[in-house]
Amino acid sequence: MSTKEKSAKPKAPRKRAASAKNVAPVPASLAEPQLTPPQELAPVAALEPPAIPPSHPLPEPEPFPIPFEEPVSLTPRAPVLTTAPAPVPVAPATEFDRAEAAAQFIFSKTPARPKIALVLGSGLGAFADEFSAATKIPYASIPHFPRSTAIGHAGQLVIGHVEDVSVAGMQGRVHLYEGYSVHEVAFPMRVFARMGVKAVILTNAAGGIKREFVQGRLIVIKDHINLQGANPLSGPNDARFGPRFPDMTIAYDRRFREMTVGQGNRQGMGLYEGVYAALPGPSYETPAEIRYLRTIGADLVGMSTVPEVIAARHSGIRVLGISCVTNAAAGILDQPLDHNEVLETAERVKTQFIALLRTVIPRIAAEIA
Ligand code: HPA
Repeated sequence: MSTKEKSAKPKAPRKRAASAKNVAPVPASLAEPQLTPPQELAPVAALEPPAIPPSHPLPEPEPFPIPFEEPVSLTPRAPVLTTAPAPVPVAPATEFDRAEAAAQFIFSKTPARPKIALVLGSGLGAFADEFSAATKIPYASIPHFPRSTAIGHAGQLVIGHVEDVSVAGMQGRVHLYEGYSVHEVAFPMRVFARMGVKAVILTNAAGGIKREFVQGRLIVIKDHINLQGANPLSGPNDARFGPRFPDMTIAYDRRFREMTVGQGNRQGMGLYEGVYAALPGPSYETPAEIRYLRTIGADLVGMSTVPEVIAARHSGIRVLGISCVTNAAAGILDQPLDHNEVLETAERVKTQFIALLRTVIPRIAAEIA
């Protein structure tokens, strides 16, 4: 250690004010903050806005839309009407009265009093175009009648003759999947009951579950399984239509079935009978659902007919049901289901279907006479 080093005393930090000539001045940003003594706060009054001179009085405040004193209601207020409301037609309170009004309207359009009604499903409506001396009544004009929105359904009631038998044919029906209630779906059967119809022929397109029920076959429905989760007789029962708990043991008339199978076979169609399962739709079934339906005894699957059968039977109308197998049910063939295929098949089978109906109608007429 050198003498010079030994003799060096620790120096007190130099004050900046007394800085040596050759020391650079500390930049202002690094300079130690200079504490300033707290300033006295301005008196609060000084922050208040300046008083408005009396020569400029404040304008009166706009009235608040809802006065504070009035309790605020949570229910929406009725709009204030400036003109008198248009009179709303009041629908008859009961389904019986609505059906009666519809039946009387239909009777006002034609002198015919048909005892047989037909519901022509997807693609089969063309049959009604062949009725002779026909009166066509759009559903939209019939009081309380539901209007069809489904593709392939014309939406009119055609009253005319088939082989000299007076019939009422529905060109199209409404379905649950269109958003109609089960009561609306079955309403035309209520109207037929009020018209004095004794037999109804319900047709539909269906998927074939049973292996032999291949595309294009006509099947006579012998029974059904209601999986639509709805029944048109739910709610209070009107005994003028029928009993509270109607029997469904033979919902599909045995005589009508025998006659139809016999006629079909005479025409070389090889008609079979099958059990129809009704689902609400509109999505088609999954393959697992079809396996389930087969297990519980269904041969065919569709999205219609059952509410109508129940309502018709409630009023003692005898029922014939015929399905056109428009496709193999989901998962049976290795291909997806397509509604166009359903319509195309119904169109292809139409001639055969109409030929069958033409021979069956006079026999049903004789049966109910
Ligand atoms: N499933 C349900 N409804 C139908 C079908 C089907 O495969 N085909 C025609 N309607």
